[in-house]
Amino acid sequence: MNINTMAKVLHSYNFANEITSIQKYGYGRINKTWLVETASGKFILQKINSELFNNIPKLMNNIIIITEHLKTKNQNTSRSVLNIINNKHNKPFTKIDCEYFRVYEYIDNSICYQTSKNYDTIKKLGFAFGDFQKNLSDFDQSKLYTTIPNFHNTSKRYNDFINVLNKQSKSAILKNKALILKFIDKKKYSSLIQNLIERNEIPKRVTHNDTKLNNVIFDYDSKTPLAILDLDTVMPGTLLHDFGDAIRYCCNEASEEETELSKIKFDIDLYKAFCEGYICSMTDLTQTEINHLAISPLVMAYELGLRFLTDYLNGNKYFAIDYECQNFKRAQNQMKLLEDMENKYMLMQKIVSDTVNKIKCSDKMSHNKPEVENNFTDKYFSDFTN
Ligand SMILES: Nc1ncnc2c1ncn2[C@@H]1O[C@H](COP(=O)(O)OP(=O)(O)O)[C@@H](O)[C@H]1O
Ligand SMILES: [Mg+2]
Repeated sequence: MNINTMAKVLHSYNFANEITSIQKYGYGRINKTWLVETASGKFILQKINSELFNNIPKLMNNIIIITEHLKTKNQNTSRSVLNIINNKHNKPFTKIDCEYFRVYEYIDNSICYQTSKNYDTIKKLGFAFGDFQKNLSDFDQSKLYTTIPNFHNTSKRYNDFINVLNKQSKSAILKNKALILKFIDKKKYSSLIQNLIERNEIPKRVTHNDTKLNNVIFDYDSKTPLAILDLDTVMPGTLLHDFGDAIRYCCNEASEEETELSKIKFDIDLYKAFCEGYICSMTDLTQTEINHLAISPLVMAYELGLRFLTDYLNGNKYFAIDYECQNFKRAQNQMKLLEDMENKYMLMQKIVSDTVNKIKCSDKMSHNKPEVENNFTDKYFSDFTN
């Protein structure tokens, strides 16, 4: 960033004259983040991504109302909720040369993991996102501005894919035929969650929409989760997207960038750990939500794979690449993960059922919690994965 812009931004905050150091911070890929140290404390400064988000005042209002609500549910609000620092004009952001900046209190003595295959950490991750959902279950989601319309509208993503496909040359289609056919063959996933939303079979809730491990901050000493970060994409939606995407991301034995397909495997034990954490804290699940928890990671892997493939065929306009066929490889990665989840789906469904029933038995869930249908697994499996 231009040094004059940085100076203007910092000058707009009360701590401007006390700064002792500024350094780039973290591994976030959406915004630009700096740690600002001052004589009176540490702060996180962020340049908000204005290419991705087109109404930043409304986005910031979402964060304000969500964090205010979360503060009513938490005791230690300095470490359990993001705290926005207003500028000298009492505004939650500073706009300089058409760019938007914001400041948060720095959550000290903390750690954000980039990756983990530790069952305890993943269970805590599940607990943290479930707790976030639970604390927001009495928040009126209609107050939220939709930062990215149709973000998880998988049916629309499928139509976009078909439109791009229709513009391809015959040779391009032939070259990528095997993977294209797999996505077409599994079209059923594109409407699965979307139909539940459109038929009002699941509640609209506040959703985070970026449920990655590095968006949860843990206490450095106790390694317990403190707060959920990165609230830019908080908007109305279904918790199935958050649950499914968290699992899609953290239960892949390899990374999203792995190109050696034999290394891509769905880790069922990590899945179990996440489920246990999530279902233990999110005690307000409806029966239909419970019934679709296990299928949601399959839908999310399908959706992301479809987006990678669409972008590859469309000239890589959305996802940045380091080499020409990277988005194709990423799509293959998600398809391999999806296929492995399909093989383990019966077990995934059983883990949800067992976890719900176990938690219900131990009386941690509310007394009117619905039962899990015993015959659901078979019925569902034959409906959707055969
Ligand atoms: N209030 C905070 N206290 C401590 N660290 C933070 C705070 N906010 C963000 N971070 C760190 O900065 C990283 C990037 O922030 P994030 O808001 O997730 O940006 P991005 O949208 O680019 O992912 C986080 O993963 C975390 O390590
Ligand atoms: Mg982030």
